[in-house]
Amino acid sequence: MQIDILTLFPQMFQGPFSPGIFQRAIDRELVRVNFHNIRDYTHDKHHTVDDYAYGSGAGMVLKPEPIFEAVESVKSGICLEEEIGELPIILLTPQGRLFSQQIALELSKHSHLILVCGRYEGVDERVREHLVTDEISIGDYVLSGGELAAMVVVEAVVRLLPGVLGSEASPLDDSHSNGLLEYPQYTRPPVYREWSVPEILLSGNHAQIANWCREQAILRTLKRRPELLDKANLSLEERQFVDRLKGESSPSVY
Ligand code: ADE
Repeated sequence: MQIDILTLFPQMFQGPFSPGIFQRAIDRELVRVNFHNIRDYTHDKHHTVDDYAYGSGAGMVLKPEPIFEAVESVKSGICLEEEIGELPIILLTPQGRLFSQQIALELSKHSHLILVCGRYEGVDERVREHLVTDEISIGDYVLSGGELAAMVVVEAVVRLLPGVLGSEASPLDDSHSNGLLEYPQYTRPPVYREWSVPEILLSGNHAQIANWCREQAILRTLKRRPELLDKANLSLEERQFVDRLKGESSPSVY
């Protein structure tokens, strides 16, 4: 996968993208990330990237020209035949659709992504209307720019690419991958400060352990994020189990 990130602050990306899984993915050429400074696509002496907003007059808005030129330049270097469907050109903005594991999975299927980081009070509306194909928000709060949001999206997408994590199965076990939060995890020692690992996990009975993990994932989701259960893929029995728990007790019990 190739990811092109358009930003006014490429230096912000230096730290988070180096260590661990990410560096391994780059070293193994599973992903290539290129940074493009939007300011490099200005033509005036002062390299102006923003201007006053029409109307209110308050606040600065990113000008359309350098963003259009940056995206068009990046696109001209991409072989679009390789791309499945439309090449995603994503604006990171609090007005976008809310990012989720499902969207990460959807994006991980593409061979290229272009991420455009907004800044200041906003971006000229023509970028939204005539350039980008998608808008993503990482949550209902406002950051000073799209850079941190782009890092979140890249991290969530790259770890889903085949071969990036050690075991192919592991991303599927993550919280949210199956619509449920992850079950509680334990490692050795079996007893720490008198707190024991649940006995079933030490039993060696794989079928019972799998049942326990599934039940715990459902219970944890019911307690912490009950709204996720409406969309989760549950069997009829599991739905009845949830309905019974909901009917019987207050959340503090489960
Ligand atoms: N830019 C500013 N705030 C943002 C958010 N919550 N998500 C994505 N991009 C942003």
